[in-house]
Amino acid sequence: MTTSTDPILPTRLEDLVALFDVRPTDAPTSDAERAEALRAPKFGTKFTDHMARVSWTSADGWKDRRIEKYGPLQLDPATAVLHYAQEIFEGLKAYKHADGSIWTFRPDQNAARFARSAHRLALPALSVDDFIGSLAALVRTDIDWVPDGEDSSLYLRPFMYASEVFLGVRPAAEVEYLVIASPVGPYFSGGVQPVSIYVSEEYHRAGPPGGTGDAKFGGNYAASLLPQLQAQKQGFDQVCFLDAATSSYLEELGGMNVFLVMDDGTLHTPELGSILEGITRASVLQLAHDRGYEVVERRIPLADVVSGLETGKVKEFFACGTAAVVTPVGRLAGTTFDHEVNGGKAGELTMAIRQELTDIQYGRAEDRHGWMRRLA
Ligand SMILES: Cc1ncc(COP(=O)(O)O)c(C=O)c1O
Repeated sequence: MTTSTDPILPTRLEDLVALFDVRPTDAPTSDAERAEALRAPKFGTKFTDHMARVSWTSADGWKDRRIEKYGPLQLDPATAVLHYAQEIFEGLKAYKHADGSIWTFRPDQNAARFARSAHRLALPALSVDDFIGSLAALVRTDIDWVPDGEDSSLYLRPFMYASEVFLGVRPAAEVEYLVIASPVGPYFSGGVQPVSIYVSEEYHRAGPPGGTGDAKFGGNYAASLLPQLQAQKQGFDQVCFLDAATSSYLEELGGMNVFLVMDDGTLHTPELGSILEGITRASVLQLAHDRGYEVVERRIPLADVVSGLETGKVKEFFACGTAAVVTPVGRLAGTTFDHEVNGGKAGELTMAIRQELTDIQYGRAEDRHGWMRRLA
């Protein structure tokens, strides 16, 4: 089990934030409008007044660290990202604690994953310093936008794209990095509800190991849209993808990793390779291990899951990720099967881990692994 250790001490964070030139918006949102935007924000629909931005050229490297007015980007029609999808992103949250301080969860892990995604997409690596410095600089500028309601947070979306204007398949020599921020309320209004999942046996979201499944790359999400649409048309909430080589092993959902709780008290999750290395996944593995559960990362045949649901060997099934934290699955179906999980109810361990994780994130429980980083 690993715990996160990042080298950024609070005093050094001040120096990293100071690298960002703050250019305040000339049209700040009024207090009344912001209060309205924060009242019941729907995921990813409202954005704060500013964005963080750093530019890169192959000649000069990263430069012009700034916080500027949030607004549209003007793109030449020949901008490389529009044609070749050379783009990556991250997602994490800023949480307000009871004393008004603002924290985020394992940002060093997001920074490391962003660097791995950049490598796979032939984009320049952004340092952990610039990644965390940009988050803190933006959150401090837009601190009034961090909601304080139950299960509310400021969702942070760092992303990087090929901004060079050219047609031709090669890595861009000009790249932009930005962070935008969006206030979000509870993912489930009216309490956590088990979701239904359709297993896609026809389409994959990314390739086998060596493809792009382990990168947080926009193209993976584009490839997930059609199966997601088809599943929704049949009344399901989410799609679960299978491995692209054999279509027989469980991988992950379009935006969440998955876990099984077995009747022998073990917890199983698909091994890494072609899936996204979720930070919630790593944290759940640690918390379950702390509780004394044996945690197993392995290839999980869909056939075993289906028979396990029939025999009762599979007791709980849950999905996890930054947006929805830990989400119970109440129904799993595919072309030849359709099973309730745990009688369609949220599992006990699922909900206990969800509670423990959110208690750490909101500062209600001891952060014994040193996962939280103060931003403001
Ligand atoms: C495809 C995919 N899998 C898993 C996850 C969960 O990752 P994390 O826990 O780091 O949010 C995400 C969300 O970021 C995702 O997009």
